[in-house]
Amino acid sequence: MNSELLRANTFHSKETIKLGVIGTGSRGRGCMELIKKLPDQFTITALCDIMDFQLKPALEMCPEAKAYKDYRKLLDDKNVQAVFVATPLFLHYPMASDALKAGKHVYLEKPMTYSIEQAIALVKEAKEHSNQVLQIGYQLPYSPLYKKIAEMIEKGYLGKVTQIHCRFDRNGSWRVPLPDPSLEKIVNWRMYREFFGGITPELLSSKMYFITIAIKTP
Ligand SMILES: NC(=O)c1ccc[n+]([C@@H]2O[C@H](COP(=O)([O-])OP(=O)(O)OC[C@H]3O[C@@H](n4cnc5c(N)ncnc54)[C@H](O)[C@@H]3O)[C@@H](O)[C@H]2O)c1
Repeated sequence: MNSELLRANTFHSKETIKLGVIGTGSRGRGCMELIKKLPDQFTITALCDIMDFQLKPALEMCPEAKAYKDYRKLLDDKNVQAVFVATPLFLHYPMASDALKAGKHVYLEKPMTYSIEQAIALVKEAKEHSNQVLQIGYQLPYSPLYKKIAEMIEKGYLGKVTQIHCRFDRNGSWRVPLPDPSLEKIVNWRMYREFFGGITPELLSSKMYFITIAIKTP
């Protein structure tokens, strides 16, 4: 994601949005760099991570933000209007659900939830909090380029779609070097089925957008 794409896809509030980041790992801090380039739209007022070695560099990026280890405490913070959730997949549903209940707007990283049941429950809860925004972190399909491609498929530029070939190459390992062996499951959560949904939700889900459009094309 680049900052212009982020700007194009942001709900434009007249006021600067006070943002709390939950999960200041790779994705959380990567997006913080972009968010900091839009000071007219966001102020990062709070940060949360259970691991010091992830929280510390985030605090160095935003020394003025309040630091939390327990995300529920961040959700109690009145100086937070919206949260950006970038934690391991198994935490997406409980954190987004609690954030909605706490009255916060939510940008929840993809994949949306660990299970389909949780996704259905979260959509229902978002409808019950209709004054709040719940957005899932599929930044590419939100881009004007993807919208144009979707429009071309819908208008029949491709004719009748009879086969879809979709690929995503990834040759690097998801295994991360450990600062301490006792942190294996927290740091390498992608290696464990109870925390991670596998390649399909992690990588294919962002391509499903086009697949569903193409399938619907008469
Ligand atoms: N949209 C995209 O293009 C994109 C790209 C990369 C990652 N992601 C998604 O972002 C999410 C995070 O991925 P990542 O690569 O940053 O993982 P990561 O392991 O680097 O970061 C996750 C962070 O969450 C923290 N965490 C774990 N439990 C916590 C808790 N209870 N409270 C607070 N913090 C907690 C960890 O300490 C870690 O710092 C994943 O869902 C991933 O799929 C999306």
